[in-house]
Amino acid sequence: MADRPDRIAVCPGSYDPVTNGHLDIINRAARVFDRVIVGVVDVQVRKQKPLFEADERKGFIEQAVAANGVENVEVKVFSNLLVEFARENGATAIVKGLRAISDFEYEFEMNQLNRTLAPEIESVYILASPDYSFIRSTGVKEMATFGGDVSDLVPAAVAEALAARART
Ligand code: PNS
Repeated sequence: MADRPDRIAVCPGSYDPVTNGHLDIINRAARVFDRVIVGVVDVQVRKQKPLFEADERKGFIEQAVAANGVENVEVKVFSNLLVEFARENGATAIVKGLRAISDFEYEFEMNQLNRTLAPEIESVYILASPDYSFIRSTGVKEMATFGGDVSDLVPAAVAEALAARART
């Protein structure tokens, strides 16, 4: 078979902080694509200011991906349009995780907008595993702030950082 270029996907998000649900999607994307570039957004896309700096969020993902032994995943911080970030990295796909119907409405809108800007980039959706479908960074942060144990929901380093923040 003729050589074909690597199939590259970007997996974007705020990752504030990364959860086991995000990591499940990243690992599964890494099985489908030759290379996965996790894009950590360094602009405020939510009403609330991020709890962790973009570089800390990036570090948590890098650590967790390395611990899982996944070699075709790279993590980058970006602050431009998602489709531009995808283009800059030679990606032909944007991978998103979908947990519930509530995610669908937002993603449907984003899909149409991104498609208008970059019709050559396909958005691909991976459905959350039942084990992780209830995990959301916002919920994890709220639980941790009030002293809840989130160690089953996020990588150990993240659980420690959240606990440290809660103590201050
Ligand atoms: O739910 P998240 O993780 O906060 O989503 C972040 C992201 C980047 C996936 C979402 O905002 C998105 O799909 N943005 C696409 C629109 C865009 O390019 N915005 C510009 C800055 S990211």
